[in-house]
Amino acid sequence: LNLISGADPRTLETICSTLQNQRRIFIECYCSKRDNSVFPAEITVNMLSVQNRESLCFFIRNISSRIKTQEALREAQKELVETAHRAGMAEIATSILHDVGNLLNSVNVSCEMIDQKLTKSTIGTLLQVTDLIKQQDDPVRFFSEDPRGKRIPHLLIEMGQRIQQEQAQLKSETGNLRNKIALIREVIQMQQSYAKAGLFEEEANVEQLVDDAIAIHSRALKQAQIKLNKKYRPVPHIRVAKSKFVHVILNLIKNAEEAVSALPASERRIDVEIFPLENEICVKISDNGVGIDPEDLGRIFTHGFTTKATGHGFGLHSCANMIKEMGGRIEVESAGRGRGASFSVIVPQATKK
Ligand SMILES: Nc1ncnc2c1ncn2[C@@H]1O[C@H](COP(=O)(O)OP(=O)(O)OP(=O)(O)O)[C@@H](O)[C@H]1O
Ligand SMILES: [Mg+2]
Repeated sequence: LNLISGADPRTLETICSTLQNQRRIFIECYCSKRDNSVFPAEITVNMLSVQNRESLCFFIRNISSRIKTQEALREAQKELVETAHRAGMAEIATSILHDVGNLLNSVNVSCEMIDQKLTKSTIGTLLQVTDLIKQQDDPVRFFSEDPRGKRIPHLLIEMGQRIQQEQAQLKSETGNLRNKIALIREVIQMQQSYAKAGLFEEEANVEQLVDDAIAIHSRALKQAQIKLNKKYRPVPHIRVAKSKFVHVILNLIKNAEEAVSALPASERRIDVEIFPLENEICVKISDNGVGIDPEDLGRIFTHGFTTKATGHGFGLHSCANMIKEMGGRIEVESAGRGRGASFSVIVPQATKK
């Protein structure tokens, strides 16, 4: 055994003891060359019976280049995982920007409304009246004899009422604004809470994720007087990237919300159903809103396709991509314009992937 070039004595002992009950050994260790330089080796020892004599046959292979290749492969794999992670982060960031951007649009609308109300406010007229009073040397005569002065008490009463109305409108508009800002905070907080784990697929409770998305919309739904009905049947867990799944449900609810907004308040309805399919689960979001033209059905998932004045046509495209990544699909049905639409998010059950 001393023939083995420089192998560690413990390696030699292992070989000897293993050969007591095995005829073939395969071992990886470090060996040294004559010049004492060390190299990684793969040693194969075979016990052979040659002419009734037991003989040992050794192969020692220098595996430096194989180890180098393995290390390079490991590095490349690590880099690939990091790149995928960065790409995932970018995808999430884009979806957060989209969701928050949409909300910021409505914040802007509220701000403009407040601005308009303040510009047209009755307070301007009130200031004109007080200026007129200030200019009078004899205010008592002005109020009792001047036709303008005589009209002032009546005007003041009217202005008081108008200011009260304006104040109520401003209050309701700032309330809207506060709700929208709270919504932005919720979208960001929820995405942050999912951000670390949420990029990777993990086992998740569908109901919980759908309810998280609905909760984010609850204020807006209430404000828009939309009735949301839930019909959940028990389903197995799914395996998804949580933050992406919530982004999908958020977007489908938002589209449904926008689709019913033109209906009279008492008719606005969104149904959210969860039910099992064979090996899959389905989350179906239906509305009784504007519906989809048959010729548009095939292109609503295309990036940039929108029929809305302030739409981006990003929502459905990103949703379809994300669900596809999770091994699922989104199916759409609509009987045509004015006849509502339903979107089914179908993903594999956790164990069936
Ligand atoms: N529930 C729905 N009812 C009717 N039409 C819908 C519905 N959901 C989507 N659509 C149609 O599909 C189009 C694309 O939807 P998508 O969510 O991708 O973009 P968007 O809502 O227009 O803009 P955004 O990027 O801001 O979401 C919409 O403009 C609309 O025409
Ligand atoms: Mg949308």
